[in-house]
Amino acid sequence: METPVVALLHDPLKTPVPDSQVASVQKTQTAVAGSDVPPLNLKPNQREVLSEAWLDELALGLSEHGWMSLDARSRLGINLLAALKHEVQILDRTDAMKKAGIGRGSDLVRDRTVRRDRIAWLQGVTAPQAALFEFFETIRQGLNQRLFLGLKRFETHYATYHSGDFYKKHLDSFKGRASRVVSLVLYLNEEWQAADGGALQVFNRDNEHEVCGVVLPEIGRMALFMSEEVPHEVLPANRTRYSLACWFRQDEVPLPL
Ligand code: OGA
Ligand code: MN
Repeated sequence: METPVVALLHDPLKTPVPDSQVASVQKTQTAVAGSDVPPLNLKPNQREVLSEAWLDELALGLSEHGWMSLDARSRLGINLLAALKHEVQILDRTDAMKKAGIGRGSDLVRDRTVRRDRIAWLQGVTAPQAALFEFFETIRQGLNQRLFLGLKRFETHYATYHSGDFYKKHLDSFKGRASRVVSLVLYLNEEWQAADGGALQVFNRDNEHEVCGVVLPEIGRMALFMSEEVPHEVLPANRTRYSLACWFRQDEVPLPL
């Protein structure tokens, strides 16, 4: 069953989501999910989100090391994180989550030896997605002001790794394609232990054999890295792992990776 949670087209950077559309998607979502939808006080704390010092921290991490990991729980708020988790769980119960491929369009290869996750693209149409898109837009502008990256837009998908799923070492973008420039991953799992596997392993951008960071996919934790420079890998998960990936892009029009 296709679910309207991600089916409606909407450009978050140009047009605000009409209230009527949000309300109708919420109604559908409630119909699909039952009534245990988290309370809809979803606005991230804008004063905190817009903190210049926090954006400075992100920009510094990217420029000095090419990557960073940080706890964004207080920026996004636990209600929004719970609502996003709820959405990905709904999608995961339907066939809206598709086997992820490598590349785009006619270049798309579904190589199960490289990656095993399932994904669903977000359109920003539900209230949680709209709030999340505002957060990403703040980051896009903040990074442009500080690093002059000329990030034009972003794209984002949910991902689910079931037990045994992984994503082998890779880069998110080929050098010089000016497509994906900054990658952001946000995790949505409570009480993740090292024994649960599924860690993000980050490699040194100057030595791809040296692990320089290990990030557990705990709810509210965020990893941020330069898409063309930093090799990374998702180790096999031993329990279901929910996350959300966002790429800030320099191109205006989607081109193959
Ligand atoms: C990806 C990716 C990392 C993660 O989707 O390209 O590398 O920790 N995800 O989920
Ligand atoms: Mn990746």
